[in-house]
Amino acid sequence: MQEALTLLNGLTPTQFMTEYWQKKPLLIRGAIPGFKGMLTPDELAGLACETEVPSRLIQFDPEHADAGAGWQVAHGPFEEDDFAALPSQHWTLLVQGMNHILPEAQALLAHFNFIPTARLDDVMVSYAPTGGGVGPHIDSYDVFLLQGAGKRRWSISQQDDLRLIPDAPLRILSHFVSEQEWVLEPGDMLYLPPNIAHWGVAEDDDCMTYSIGFRAPAARELAVEFLDACRQEGLSDELYRDPELQPVLDATAIDQAMVKRVSGMLQRLTWQPEALGPFLARYFTEPKSYVVFTPNRKLSLAKFTDQVRESGVTLDLQTQMLHWQGQYFINGEVVELADECGHLLNSLANQRQLGARLFHSENAKMLLAWLRDMYLLGYLHLGEI
Ligand code: SIN
Ligand code: CO
Repeated sequence: MQEALTLLNGLTPTQFMTEYWQKKPLLIRGAIPGFKGMLTPDELAGLACETEVPSRLIQFDPEHADAGAGWQVAHGPFEEDDFAALPSQHWTLLVQGMNHILPEAQALLAHFNFIPTARLDDVMVSYAPTGGGVGPHIDSYDVFLLQGAGKRRWSISQQDDLRLIPDAPLRILSHFVSEQEWVLEPGDMLYLPPNIAHWGVAEDDDCMTYSIGFRAPAARELAVEFLDACRQEGLSDELYRDPELQPVLDATAIDQAMVKRVSGMLQRLTWQPEALGPFLARYFTEPKSYVVFTPNRKLSLAKFTDQVRESGVTLDLQTQMLHWQGQYFINGEVVELADECGHLLNSLANQRQLGARLFHSENAKMLLAWLRDMYLLGYLHLGEI
C-alpha cells in the first residue's frame, strides 16, 4: 500500500480510481522515486530493428509542423542506417509491447495491479532528442506517462476543438491551445484519461518516456468477436426456409415476409450472460498479432519435473493469463485442469511464477503435466525471476 501511495501522489488506489480514473488528469511528482529508465536510446533503437517488435519513427519539420507535409511516419523494423541518417532534433522513436521484451517493464506493470489486468494494454517506450514528440493529439485510452531519463514538457488541454491537420500521416490537432504545462523529470508521472489533448516535447537529448497504456475495446469489436466465438461454439446452422412462399410480382424486392423469417432466425440466437465471462477471458488473453512464442526444446515429464522442483517456473513475458469463476485461460485457450489446481493457477496468473518449493508435495502431478505442455509451447520457462 505504501508503494501505491507514492505511485499515486499520496492517494490510495480507491481515492485515485474514484476521483481521477477515466475522469481527470493527475500529475504525480516522484511517482517512482529513483526511476531512471530501463534501457538506453541505443538499446531502444536496436529493438526497433527487430521484426517482431512494433516500432514507429516520427519526424517533423518545425517550420512546417502546421501542415500535413511537415510530418513523416515510418514503421519498423528499421536498419541502423535509418538512425544514422536522422537530424539532431525533432524526431521520436516509439516502441510498443516493451513488457513482452523487458522483465523490468513487466515488473513496472505490477505497480498498477489495482487495475484489472484485462484493461492493460502494454508499455510503450519513446525516445526523443530535444524538440522531439508526436505532436498535439488525443488518445482514446487511459495512459500513465512515466518519465525515464531526461526531461519532457507536457502541455494538456480539455479543449473541444478536435480539428486535425489535414493530410498528416498521423492524427495531430491543428488548433491545440495549452491550458496546463509541466516539465517532467525522471520518476515523475502524468495520468491522462481518454480524450484529453496532450503534447509532450523533449527538453533535452536523452528524453525517454514510458507509457503504461490501457485498452478499451469498442462495442462493435466486442459484438463481432463475441458472435464469432458463438459461431465456433455451435451456433445453429439452421438454413433460411420458406416452404409457404407464393409467386412474387416483383422478383427484385426484399419483402416483409423475408425480413420476418430472418428476424425469427436471429431471435433464436440467444446467449446467456454467463457465456460472456469465458469469452472475455479468452478475448483478453489472445496474443497480439505480432506475438510469436518460441517453443522450448523437448524434455521428458520426469526431467521437467526434476527441474521444476529445483528452480520453479516463470511465465513467458508475452503470456497472458486471466480467470473467470475458477476457470483459467492462457493465451486465448482454456486451461483444462481440475479445481484443486486453482490456487496454484491463481498464483501463476498473478505472480507470473511458481516457486520450486511449491512442487515438493507429490500431489502436483496433473499440474506438472500441464506446465510441461505450456513449457513446450514456449508459454513458460524454467526458473524464477
Ligand atoms: C511519447 O512518449 O512521446 C508519446 C506518448 C503519448 O503522447 O501518448
Ligand atoms: Co498520447
